[in-house]
Amino acid sequence: MNYIGSKYSLMEFLKNTIEDVTGYNNGEGHTFADLFAGTGIVGSTYKEIGYDIISNDIQYYSYVINKHLIENIPVMDASIFDYLNSLEGIEGFIYNNYCAGSGSERNYFTDINGKKCDAIRTALEVMLKKGDIDQSVYFYFLASLINSIDKYANTASVYGAFLKHIKKTAQKDFKLELLPVISGKKGKVYNEDINKLIKKISGDILYLDPPYNTRQYCANYHVLETIARYDSPVLRGKTGLREYASQKSLFCSKRTVNDVFEDLISNADFKYIFLSYNNEGLMSMNTIKNIMSKYGKYTFYIQNYRRFKADSDKNRQISSSTTKEYIHCLIKDL
Ligand SMILES: C[S@@+](CC[C@H](N)C(=O)[O-])C[C@H]1O[C@@H](n2cnc3c(N)ncnc32)[C@H](O)[C@@H]1O
Repeated sequence: MNYIGSKYSLMEFLKNTIEDVTGYNNGEGHTFADLFAGTGIVGSTYKEIGYDIISNDIQYYSYVINKHLIENIPVMDASIFDYLNSLEGIEGFIYNNYCAGSGSERNYFTDINGKKCDAIRTALEVMLKKGDIDQSVYFYFLASLINSIDKYANTASVYGAFLKHIKKTAQKDFKLELLPVISGKKGKVYNEDINKLIKKISGDILYLDPPYNTRQYCANYHVLETIARYDSPVLRGKTGLREYASQKSLFCSKRTVNDVFEDLISNADFKYIFLSYNNEGLMSMNTIKNIMSKYGKYTFYIQNYRRFKADSDKNRQISSSTTKEYIHCLIKDL
């Protein structure tokens, strides 16, 4: 999934750094916590290496994706796949509010794709309620729906706005694709504010990948949140935002970020703490260093990171710029 701040392309750097600091070369007997989990790429990678995984994110769509990636293990029952993919579209919440044909004046998906999404989403809920599928299959398919519908969204990249004309990738007819089932141990997934959760858990490695600027995930991925919850929220404004006050992250504000970060580090019952943060974030390098150094032995690793910009469908003008990606490391005095 194309997600702001995804660590997909930085996994090698992260794995090398963590191995270097901890000396662990497999997960046997160790717990790894990925508590700003997003797409789940980091937790999934460590699950495959054999760690016990704790995963968390404040967004419900991320929780759903991680419920599948982290808690489901092979072999999963995929027998409803053909049935779901062959469903006729229906006029549900997504079509009525996010597709232009319904008169919503919003253009997030084509009418066909919005209706198809509604049909699959509704069927999953019905099947779960009737007991035709269990929770693990429900999350398998709901996570796959969220992950695959994102590829058909008529947006520049996030859901802060939709495009006026339907772009090429959004014109294709939606097909559900299944996410992989990750082998490893069955982990545990939460959907909480990290500063609350941290007081209830413990482990060996804590990986932190907070937002580093003022862009709130709840506002940028509100359509995925609604597909995940399917709770018919009251929408407002041109872009159809759902209410998100309770999901606003204190890591996205210059005024609050230093305090919540220190609160997190001080309450963490983990020997090794790794923080991904680039050099353009709300917290300065010095602030991070000062806070982390108070709690043990601090060091950091750097890698140049090529960032790609623009997603203009017809003339994909891709410009790139280099930014530095840091991994701040703390061996905590416990
Ligand atoms: C930079 S992204 C993480 C990306 C992830 N590592 C990946 O590779 O996909 C930050 C994530 O932190 C979540 N988040 C922000 N504030 C949070 C909080 N207070 N508690 C828990 N999760 C939070 C966001 O919803 C978002 O998914």
